[in-house]
Formats: sequence, structure tokens, C-alpha cells
Amino acid sequence: MTPHGAPNIPTAPGSASTTGHFAVAAGLGDTSRVSDRATLSRIRAFLDTANPPTPCLVVDIDAVSDRAALLQATFPGARVLYAVKANPAPAVVHALAEAGLGFDVASVGEIDLCLANGADPAAISFGNPIKKAADVARAYALGVREFVTDASADLANIAMHAPGSRVTARIAIDAPDSVTPFGRKFGCAPEMAVELLIDAAAAGLRPAGVAFHVGSQQLDLAAWDIAMAAVAKVFAAVADHGVTLDTVNIGGGMGVAYTGPAPRLDDYADAVRGALRRHFPRAGPRLALEPGRIMVAEAGLLRTEVILVSKKSSADDHRWVYLDIGRYNGLAETENEAITYQLALVREHADAVGPVIVAGPTCDGDDVLYQRTSYRLPLDLSSGDRLDVLDAGAYTASYSSVAFNGIDPLRTYCLSGGRLIDEC
Ligand SMILES: Cc1ncc(COP(=O)(O)O)c(C=O)c1O
Repeated sequence: MTPHGAPNIPTAPGSASTTGHFAVAAGLGDTSRVSDRATLSRIRAFLDTANPPTPCLVVDIDAVSDRAALLQATFPGARVLYAVKANPAPAVVHALAEAGLGFDVASVGEIDLCLANGADPAAISFGNPIKKAADVARAYALGVREFVTDASADLANIAMHAPGSRVTARIAIDAPDSVTPFGRKFGCAPEMAVELLIDAAAAGLRPAGVAFHVGSQQLDLAAWDIAMAAVAKVFAAVADHGVTLDTVNIGGGMGVAYTGPAPRLDDYADAVRGALRRHFPRAGPRLALEPGRIMVAEAGLLRTEVILVSKKSSADDHRWVYLDIGRYNGLAETENEAITYQLALVREHADAVGPVIVAGPTCDGDDVLYQRTSYRLPLDLSSGDRLDVLDAGAYTASYSSVAFNGIDPLRTYCLSGGRLIDEC
């Protein structure tokens, strides 16, 4: 089996099918997919020569910049606010500030990060509805004038500590579940959003619009239509009170083809444009979007080493493959096996493969990546072998714990022009 080929395509639970070899750069030739051959070969050339300790994440900043340009071209006139939480590597933020993007931030720490890397405070939206009064005040002192809210107590803090700022109300929507849904944590009922926006105007704030998030890795395009219908009702209701809104913030949610298919960027854009046309048949509001995953996932590759391959009994047909990457040092999104990453081989292996359970390195029983999803790896895989986790640029390093079980946080190497420009 050739190196860099991924033999282990997850199949539906219970399925006996194993498709054998799998092209690493699935979707090659699809211009909406950043993890093309050039990105992969730049990253692998770096890994082969620098040979950094594993586990590590390598992010191709040129691929991130390409994706930013593609998003700007796909949504002309829209404000593109990168959701920093997806990958807060300074080089990523710097490249996106250079590209003229704005930023959706969740905390004062992310504001500091953006400002240190060239962002204009006027291009920053404090998108997290859960924030302390002190954080609102600090954001305002740093020049941030845009806040998202979903609660009257938070709105009062904004009125008190960020006077005159633009305020967007986030609504909860009844959309199909995404692969990593938010549950009911964020957003309020549309009727409450109407009250918040009217109260915002009365408090001297500038009611700007309505925000929603259809859930991350949302594969059902109908979600945006359902959300936009609710947004349009809020726009109409506040207009009845003499308040005019100008922006609809569609959040993130656009997905990536990990081991299964995902809509293409153009499909997402068509769904959003169609929903806008249907629910705002006259002049529509300005669009803001907060892409996280789709901006960085495909620009990143994570290299890991096999610590141990073992069986629990000699009769067991499954081997356990323990990696030096797990739930707590980068692969948090494998919780409930939600995100099923492609794994690719790094050295040449014999062709024969067999079923495996993939687990992480800690002494924690939950640190098992895949046991229900069918993964198959070479029978000659052994300690010291390396594997590549593909499309791993989003929600990996930023989720890594600081020292669980004494394990270091996931290190990130950022490349441009194939050369290392930053590490963190
Ligand atoms: C407010 C907000 N906007 C945008 C995003 C980015 O979402 P995604 O990575 O699905 O594009 C998130 C993710 O949690 C978020 O909380």
C-alpha cells in the first residue's frame, strides 16, 4: 500500500464494506476544496524535511488566504467575519486581516489576538452572547463597537459599557441538527429578539440586525431557509415599531467533506442567496457571515504517531490502535464520533488491512476516537508508524487541553510558500 493513501474509510456502523484504498485528496479538481494536491504536498514536504515531534498540526497559510478570497468572491458585498475560535494561530489571523476580513470573537483574549495581528477594531464583532460586563467594557475600550446578544441582562451591560454600539440579536432556530449542533444554548425566541432590538434603540444603542447559527458542519441546506424565514419576521416586527435593521448575520455552519460528502461552497451560497430572495423579495439586508470550519479545516494536516497496537484477547478480530493524538490534545470533535477524519498512511505498508478501534494516549476511558465507526488500518501497522489526519485545521489545536495527563497542547506550524513562518 502506498504511503499517504488512506485505507481506512469509515463505513456506516454495522456495514461490512471496506473500500480499500482511498485517494487522500478526495475532490481534487473541485475548486471549492482547498485541501488540494498543492496544499498537501507543501505540508508533507515540510513534515518530511523538518520532521517535527508528533503530534503536530501544520497549517498552509496560503490555502487559508485562497479560501478567504474564494469566500469573498462567492458572497460579494457581504461582510466576512472569520470565527477566530476555529483556529486562532496568529499567522492565520494575520493573513485574514491582510485579506481585509473582519472577525467574530468570543472573548477579550480573541480581541487582543486580532488587534495584535493587524485587525481593525471596527471590523471585530463580539459574537458571543455569554460575556461579563467587564468584558463588554474592555472590548469597548479596545475599540469594538459591535455586539451580539440574546438576553436582556447582556443588552443592559452593552448599553451601560458600550454606549452607541451596534447590536445584533441572535435567534434560536428550529433547523435540522448539524453534525456538531449547539443544542439550545444560544439564541432567543424571535419575539424576544424583537423586544431586545426595540429596547436597544430605546437605550441609545444602534439595532443592526438579526443573527443565527444553523449548527457547525451543517449538511442540510434547508436550514438556511428555515432560519431566514424567522429572521424576516423579526425584521418586519421591529419595522412596525419604527426600527430599521440593515444586516442579517448567518453565522457559520458551512461544512467540509471529511469522510462523507458535504455540500460544496457554491451549494451553500445558492442556499443562502435563495433564502434571502424568498424571504426578502424587495431589497434584502446586507449579509454578514462568520465562517470558521470552512475557512481553515482543509488547510491543516495533523501528523500523529502510533504508540501501541494491541488486542484485548487473542480471539479479538479488532486491534486497538493507540495514537499520540486524542480527544484531549486536539481531536475533541471526535466526541460521539461526530467528526470522522480521514487517516492517511505516511510510510509504505503491505496491502492487507483489518478493523481497528482508534484511541488516544491518555489514561481516560473517554479518550477513544472511533469504536462504532468502522476504520480499517494495515495489518502491519505498528508502534512508531505515523499517520496523517486530514482536513484537521479547524477546532483541533484550539480545543487542546494545556496539560491533561501531562501532555502538551497541540503544536501548530504555519507555512507560507512552503516555508515555516510561525509556530505556536
Ligand atoms: C457565533 C459563531 N459564529 C461562527 C462560528 C463558526 O462556525 P463554523 O465553524 O461552523 O463555520 C461559531 C462556531 O462555534 C460561532 O459560535
